[in-house]
Amino acid sequence: MKVGILGGGQLGRLIVLAGLPLGVSFRVLAREAEALAGLAVEHIAADYDDVEAIEHFAAGLDVATYEFENVSVGAVSALAKQVPVYPPPRALHTAQDRLHEKTFFQGLGIATPEFAAVESRADLHVAVDRLGLPAVLKARRLGYDGKGQVVITDPAEVEAAWQRLGGVPAILEQFISFDRELSLVAVRGRRGETAYYPLVENHHRSGILRVSLAPAPSAEPQLQRQAEAWAEGILQTLDYVGVLAIEWFEIGGRLLANEMAPRVHNSGHWTIEGAATSQFENHLRAILGWPLGGTSVLGCSALVNLIGTCPATADLLAVPGSHVHLYGKSPRPGRKLGHVTIRGEEWASIHEPLRQLLARVGEEQLSAGVLAPRPARAGG
Ligand SMILES: Nc1ncnc2c1ncn2[C@@H]1O[C@H](COP(=O)(O)OP(=O)(O)O)[C@@H](O)[C@H]1O
Ligand SMILES: [Mg+2]
Repeated sequence: MKVGILGGGQLGRLIVLAGLPLGVSFRVLAREAEALAGLAVEHIAADYDDVEAIEHFAAGLDVATYEFENVSVGAVSALAKQVPVYPPPRALHTAQDRLHEKTFFQGLGIATPEFAAVESRADLHVAVDRLGLPAVLKARRLGYDGKGQVVITDPAEVEAAWQRLGGVPAILEQFISFDRELSLVAVRGRRGETAYYPLVENHHRSGILRVSLAPAPSAEPQLQRQAEAWAEGILQTLDYVGVLAIEWFEIGGRLLANEMAPRVHNSGHWTIEGAATSQFENHLRAILGWPLGGTSVLGCSALVNLIGTCPATADLLAVPGSHVHLYGKSPRPGRKLGHVTIRGEEWASIHEPLRQLLARVGEEQLSAGVLAPRPARAGG
């Protein structure tokens, strides 16, 4: 089987590493594919809107997928005329635009923060009056890792926020003082079968995911049921195939949907060691029409991202039980260079190695939140 991937980053790399043992071969279309250098992968170096390159890319593929959501829907639709593309272009179209996405959630009865469309400066003032402050102004398109958004706390900041975003179409959202952030990784196969990993607890700093704890400690079973029921609605409505991630805010024992990503997700990297089947393998199984793998968890896992700089590999491996994944990318501030997963039978057993790991990657300031007392049993 031959799978084509649009995009040449670490998510593509991790999909390839999951597929090689299954005998899957890969072709990647990306301007640059530093994270895939050295792997046995065909690389077509071109832009996604290069029609000739797309044709060449599609020839002989069994199926194509994408590993980041800012490929153009036009390119994906052109590709879909030649080879099946999963997740379906409609999912991409919905997830690329925060207004479409939140409107879609609401149409399915999924709770979200209150929001308003903002096309102009005048709209922004009306939206601020309606939603109140604090609020978050987000560009509708192309945001990631907290880029393309501004928190407004005071009416005097409204004008500057509009300027800072550059006057692009946006949405204003009520600012949520959440108890914590969670995510759900879901997968749907070609025959409509679905599977879910447990909710994960996510810790961000400067808009970038730093640490995920899986399963989310002390999550109420009712939250998992709610998240799965809403995810099921999204998957079936979009006739989705592949892995889908949904980010949530937990507040007062309830979930609000923040956004979704029609792809494998950083908060799911722990599944490589911490679940019966990794999200990457399950994405491939889904898009190839193969049976999905189990999503049950093995104990509890902590995932720590390596951002901007990487400690020496030997220092990371000196942390008991650590599993190190490096992406082969050159260091740059804010860049995701790798991740480390620590897995144990219960939170108490990984507390100390996790504290050491956070210190080694310079994330001590997250320790208080991440290492807050956890129940003795995973998912308990
Ligand atoms: N309405 C909101 N209220 C409070 N915090 C928010 C809100 N929207 C986003 N954030 C914070 O900003 C982070 C990034 O926002 P998000 O919408 O997920 O954009 P992206 O991940 O695409 O950059 C979130 O993970 C959360 O920490
Ligand atoms: Mg996000």
